[in-house]
Amino acid sequence: MKHLLKLEGMKEAEARIILGFAQAAKKNRGRKCSASEALAGQIWALIFTKASTRTRVSFEVAIREMGGVPTFLSAAEIQLGRGELVRDTARVMGRMVHGAVIRTFAQADVAEFAEFAKIPTINALTDDEHPCQILSDIFTIEEKRGAIRGKKIAFIGDAACNVPRSLVEAAKIFGFSLACGAPKEFRPAKTGDGVSWTEDPEEAASGADVLYTDVWVSMGKEAEAEMREKVFAPYQINQKLVAKAKKDALVLHCLPAYRGKEISAQILEERSQDIFDQAENRLHTQKGILEWIVSK
Ligand code: CP
Ligand code: NVA
Repeated sequence: MKHLLKLEGMKEAEARIILGFAQAAKKNRGRKCSASEALAGQIWALIFTKASTRTRVSFEVAIREMGGVPTFLSAAEIQLGRGELVRDTARVMGRMVHGAVIRTFAQADVAEFAEFAKIPTINALTDDEHPCQILSDIFTIEEKRGAIRGKKIAFIGDAACNVPRSLVEAAKIFGFSLACGAPKEFRPAKTGDGVSWTEDPEEAASGADVLYTDVWVSMGKEAEAEMREKVFAPYQINQKLVAKAKKDALVLHCLPAYRGKEISAQILEERSQDIFDQAENRLHTQKGILEWIVSK
């Protein structure tokens, strides 16, 4: 049985199967094809402890378009929110549904769920990783700029949070270099294997093929908002920073975006075609992940 709990340790060949399925799903959307029946007769639970727009909707639509039925469970509205153990919730789910997509805080909870539910389990974001997002972003970069191997991706902002943590793992898998421009307290957890860190956002952005950012205040970090907004103030993707990257550099944002914080309103609007294509690709890539996970 397969799970997608993290990118750490994933082989490029496996990731390429997912991206291949995603490409076909995008091309064949609305047509009858093998992917459109891959979840026939299956019920998939979406168990979310944190807010979500893109991940929730893309999985709900993907599951339906693949012949399955999604059931969305806000953790606050099931007994999990009142203290029922993850392992007990998992044992129940495993007897009733065919797969689970989980968004929560602790990575250990997703791993425990997979262990006890014994059904394919997908990490839809934890504090450690956001693997579905980054697989989708690789898809977007290659769709718009060709093979990612050898390219320079600059991540600007909170390089210690889930999205860049998955990017760090992806750099190893796909062979691109990742330059993080981040304050010391928010530097990447790992460097080496193509991953570098500098406190200077302009140095990170210099000559980059892709500029990427995420929110300064991740879900669960709201109490630190005031401190974070001060520390991250020099780490905004704006016109000045974009000028340091390659002329045809792509600007990406996993979204939601906070204009005037991690990205200027001007750049967000100027680059909205690419950024919202990036969001759309979440749907196609979720289908790739689902098809891969249920395939033998
Ligand atoms: N990028 C992303 O995961 O968005 P949501 O939080 O809206 O799912
Ligand atoms: N780092 C952000 C990603 C949101 C998709 C968060 O965890 O809130």
